[in-house]
Amino acid sequence: MEHNKVKNIHWFPGHMKKASNLISEKLKLVDFVIVLLDSRIPLSSYNPYLMEIIKDKKKVFLLSKKDLSDENESKKWENYLTKNNDLAMVVDLKNQKIVNDILSLINVYIDEKKEKYLKKGIKNISIRAMVVGIPNVGKSTFINLMAKKSIAIAKNEPGVTKAIRWIKVNKNFEIMDTPGILFPQFKDKKSAINLALLGTIKEDILPLDEIFEYLINFIKKYYLIDFNSRYKYEFKVSDDNNFILETIGRKRGFLNKDNDVDITKTIKVILNEFRNGIIGRFTIERVEDANI
Ligand code: G4P
Repeated sequence: MEHNKVKNIHWFPGHMKKASNLISEKLKLVDFVIVLLDSRIPLSSYNPYLMEIIKDKKKVFLLSKKDLSDENESKKWENYLTKNNDLAMVVDLKNQKIVNDILSLINVYIDEKKEKYLKKGIKNISIRAMVVGIPNVGKSTFINLMAKKSIAIAKNEPGVTKAIRWIKVNKNFEIMDTPGILFPQFKDKKSAINLALLGTIKEDILPLDEIFEYLINFIKKYYLIDFNSRYKYEFKVSDDNNFILETIGRKRGFLNKDNDVDITKTIKVILNEFRNGIIGRFTIERVEDANI
């Protein structure tokens, strides 16, 4: 397979600037920022440009899609992201029960603020947060989950051009509806492939065979047992990637009219099963590679 065929990899400076201006403008209205990251790719879903803007704010990192990522690796990420006194938790946002765990975590910041204000004689405080994250990371799911029993209120805020929609989660805690769309920043080609692998960016940004080669090499390194169990075949690390594709395609009956395996279809099905946790729970990016 050919390498270095990266097509059209560019990020969107215009959009990025717009989103970052909106975030900067509204940052002063919140006590802390909830940063959503995909627990399978915490590095590629972490936007360094955004982190620079919010560096002086307290942060709660919510690593979404716990049900799809490797539990051991997720624990390591949780520890790693608390290293600067920030809070971090791996969450399955499709599970309603997670709301109480998230609220308990955030209580740490509420208690800190209460203590500070009590010294000034103020008893009733509320705390406000902004939610940020690249597309597909689970922002809407998170906001809907937290908004279950609440009403969204639009308020005009001093010094801010547009009314802001606040979601009142409880008497102490409000969430700001996310300002602007934050596109992922491709730090390098690996990030682009990781984002394409999980469907955050369109997979046609890179040749499909290149994405597959990257995926299969990753699987051979860490999760061959899960892969073999899904496709009911004892593949070995030394097996050629084309042999793997041919075998799976034929077993599944993905054949064209000449009885040849439809390679594109086979790759697409494997990619889809990988993304949706059907092959197993995978973490692509490891704490050992962290540079954030
Ligand atoms: P966004 O606003 O950040 O763009 O993301 P959004 O909430 O729309 O979530 C993107 C997809 O990820 C949705 O799936 C959503 O259901 C799914 N998702 C979010 N959090 C989790 C999680 O913790 N675990 C799992 N398994 N999935 C999660 P979709 O296929 O686009 O829609 P649908 O399945 O909800 O219909």
